[in-house]
Amino acid sequence: MPDDHAVLGRVSNPELLQAALDGLTACPKTLPPKFFYDEEGCRLFGLITQLPEYYPTRTEMKLLAQIGPEVASLMPQGAVLVEYGASDEAKALFLLNSGRFSRYVPIDVAVTSLRALRARLAASHPALDVQIRPGDFLSAVDIPRRAPILGFFPGSTIGNLDRPVAQHFLADARVALGTNGRFLIGVDLAKSPDILIPAYDDAQAVTAAFNLNLLVRMNREIGTRFNPDNFSHRAIWNGEKSRIEMHLVSRYTHIEYISGEMVSFAPGETIHTENSHKYTQSEFISLAAAAGWSTERVWVDENNLFAVYLLA
Ligand code: AVI
Repeated sequence: MPDDHAVLGRVSNPELLQAALDGLTACPKTLPPKFFYDEEGCRLFGLITQLPEYYPTRTEMKLLAQIGPEVASLMPQGAVLVEYGASDEAKALFLLNSGRFSRYVPIDVAVTSLRALRARLAASHPALDVQIRPGDFLSAVDIPRRAPILGFFPGSTIGNLDRPVAQHFLADARVALGTNGRFLIGVDLAKSPDILIPAYDDAQAVTAAFNLNLLVRMNREIGTRFNPDNFSHRAIWNGEKSRIEMHLVSRYTHIEYISGEMVSFAPGETIHTENSHKYTQSEFISLAAAAGWSTERVWVDENNLFAVYLLA
């Protein structure tokens, strides 16, 4: 029988509880990556973006600094910038600083971050109308359509979606951004596992802490009693699916309870926590085409690590 704590543990996040019940009673065991981003997860992800091994953020920032003015100049004066998954405005500033946009619509699940972003932009860009949209960017979002829209989805977050979901998202965005809309998307390029594996399994074990924090979050928010020491972090390259997979690997045979439901772990058994798909240029252009977009421009950094696509 489960102990009292496991049965009566407080649940402050019913969505996480449902996801844990569904994912951890399935075979193989999974948990959705969106639950990485509690306060500690956001802090650890911020550290990941600065790791020497994690090239995507700094490579994309450099590219955006180069191409931002050119992309903005393709939009008419008074255009709208809609950012999907906008935890801060750092990347959008490369476009907003052109003065071309009169309205900025950042969409993100983290309401606190969105409010802080709005306050910063009110001080730095007082003429800009900032309309925050708290919520999941995968759900339908109401976007003002009075002026041409540039959608913006940096960070290769599209890589965290399975291909059919990514195609569906791109097709929905095409409707949301309107017939004259364009979409600027940052996507990590497929490359050697010798570069990819260290990017997701760094020497300082920050990515390991980010992955293991999911267990800590479940203990706090759904009353489980996972011991993070019972698991280790693993990043693997799945060549067939062209993706990095992150897993939490059970070190021992042990049992956990989720809201009274018994879940057993064998040694070496994993919880699959994230996929990060990597696309060649032609693969991504085909995916976008299948969602109704044509690719207007592609920019790639000098080391061939990361691509930014302008879809129209
Ligand atoms: C947010 N996303 C694009 C990151 C990625 O590279 O897939 C999440 C991440 N996971 C481990 N490191 C970074």
